[in-house]
Amino acid sequence: MTQTAPAKHDAGIERDRSWVFFNGEVVLYADAKVGLLTHGLNYGTGIFEGIRAYWNETRKQLYVLRMPEHYERMHNNARALQMAIPHGIDELCAITKDLLRRNGFREDAYIRPLCFKAAEIIGVRLHDVPDSFGIVTSPMGPYVGTEGIRCLVSSWRRIDDTMAPVRMKCTGLYVNSALAKSEALQAGFDEAIMLTHDGHVSEGSAENIFIVRKGAIFTPPPSDNILEGITRSAAMHLVREEMGLEVEERSIDRTELYVADEVFFVGTGAQVAPVVEIDRRRIGDGEPGPLTMRLQGVYSDVVTGHNPKYEEWLTPVY
Ligand SMILES: Cc1ncc(COP(=O)(O)O)c(C=O)c1O
Repeated sequence: MTQTAPAKHDAGIERDRSWVFFNGEVVLYADAKVGLLTHGLNYGTGIFEGIRAYWNETRKQLYVLRMPEHYERMHNNARALQMAIPHGIDELCAITKDLLRRNGFREDAYIRPLCFKAAEIIGVRLHDVPDSFGIVTSPMGPYVGTEGIRCLVSSWRRIDDTMAPVRMKCTGLYVNSALAKSEALQAGFDEAIMLTHDGHVSEGSAENIFIVRKGAIFTPPPSDNILEGITRSAAMHLVREEMGLEVEERSIDRTELYVADEVFFVGTGAQVAPVVEIDRRRIGDGEPGPLTMRLQGVYSDVVTGHNPKYEEWLTPVY
């Protein structure tokens, strides 16, 4: 039999040999194991973060983007699931820098901190269940296309805050995202847009959404069940400060997407991703919009360390 997928196989071996942080120790990924009855695995009782680090070839430097903000959000989110992260924000930043150095990253990377209910017990609850905490690092390219993606408004509504803490990055909540994303991909689209229970635009499966109408920029408010994205707040800041435009947080209806001049996603994974089609309707002229592309350029300069004004958003690793 011929070998068909050597790259994937190698990636698995590479990951097994990478250093991770698990319950207070630095160990190999292959040695950081959990049991089948682990609470977080069975009941989705975990919280996580997704952080990007950008390699600057000229300076031979790796910059972690808004790392303290991600760990601050994680600490806040932990409260919702009655968890306590056993390390402070500065310590978490130091552990992450150490892992990235040990793993020798000289390319763009992704950092995945995870805290989960670790008891191997049967019985669903939050209180009196011990937690585990780990951090994994991985190479990371684009998450969704950055040159114009096609979206489907999902038949799956975004979970409401009266049902689960949608503001938090809880592992269990991602069943909602996975249903929407697979529905979109399997129907031939690139990404899903979810509506709230009362029909307002909420967000993508792992991205916040913005629309442009007549030069003004709008994004759904936190009360429309969005995850309060760190990239969303960065994008709002950059639109105001670097592009001199206003952004308004207000509810957006489904058909407003169809008549928008531009639509774009932002997120740690997605970065700034233009949406060129929704429900088989062209957005604007069907090409990435000019304001979106301007923001994409501004964002890219900031995250790779090419805009000295925003150096405080970046933590150098080397
Ligand atoms: C559901 C959801 N919304 C929005 C975002 C964007 O958040 P951030 O910019 O903090 O990565 C994410 C990120 O993964 C997400 O999972």
